[in-house]
Amino acid sequence: MKIIRAKDYNDMSRKAANIISAQIIMKPHCVLGLATGGTPVGTYKQLVEWYNKGDLDLSEVTTVNLDEYRGLPRDHEQSYWHFMHVHFFDLVNIDPSRIHLPEGTDPDAAAACARYDQIIHDLGGIDLQLLGIGIDGHIGFNEPGAAFELGTHCVDLTESTIEANKRFFASREEVPRQAYTMGIKTIMQARKVLLAVSGGSKAEIVKQAFFGPVTPEVPASILQMHPDVTLVGDEEALHLI
Ligand code: F6R
Repeated sequence: MKIIRAKDYNDMSRKAANIISAQIIMKPHCVLGLATGGTPVGTYKQLVEWYNKGDLDLSEVTTVNLDEYRGLPRDHEQSYWHFMHVHFFDLVNIDPSRIHLPEGTDPDAAAACARYDQIIHDLGGIDLQLLGIGIDGHIGFNEPGAAFELGTHCVDLTESTIEANKRFFASREEVPRQAYTMGIKTIMQARKVLLAVSGGSKAEIVKQAFFGPVTPEVPASILQMHPDVTLVGDEEALHLI
């Protein structure tokens, strides 16, 4: 595992964007696994800036996002589809037909998940998977206790995740209770993993995930077994390691 220490959120975002940008330059037709949440917003902003300067071309890139709320239509303001378009896809030259997220409104959960795994398989797998980490150690929506061997599946969100995500909704009641997420197996099959983290509230879980026992109780801890993981974090997030 490589650990890259950044000064603050902006520095962390620039360093994460540098790694993604290097991936795109080395393999223009790469498959990027992407994440939503607060952490990668600065990374996407930096990538957009480099695109606007003419330093980055995303025309051949394919993306597969980690997760999507179950039940939210794509145009819902809080859908991850919407988030990704507002923060990234609408601002760069990515081909819309190469953008993939789980289909949140498919009522047949098993079919939606199987189709998503098939898409990733047909693309030849993920070259670089960007991840954030929840304060309980979740990656994607793989909450504590999630089986390591799962592909894309439907999950019930934990109270802690509903609580953390309610800031984006008008009320707690509006936060969806389920989501479709890539499983740990899908994430572990990515050729490279880049986990970005910022802020003191994540320091303890970062220590547990990367230096504690590998256990489903801390889903991110499985990344200790991945052959190519880069952890990029700011001083506050990495101060315990
Ligand atoms: C987002 C995702 C989540 C977040 C995690 C951290 O697609 O799958 O696992 O990465 O909840 O969220 P932030 O970055 O908001 O702290």
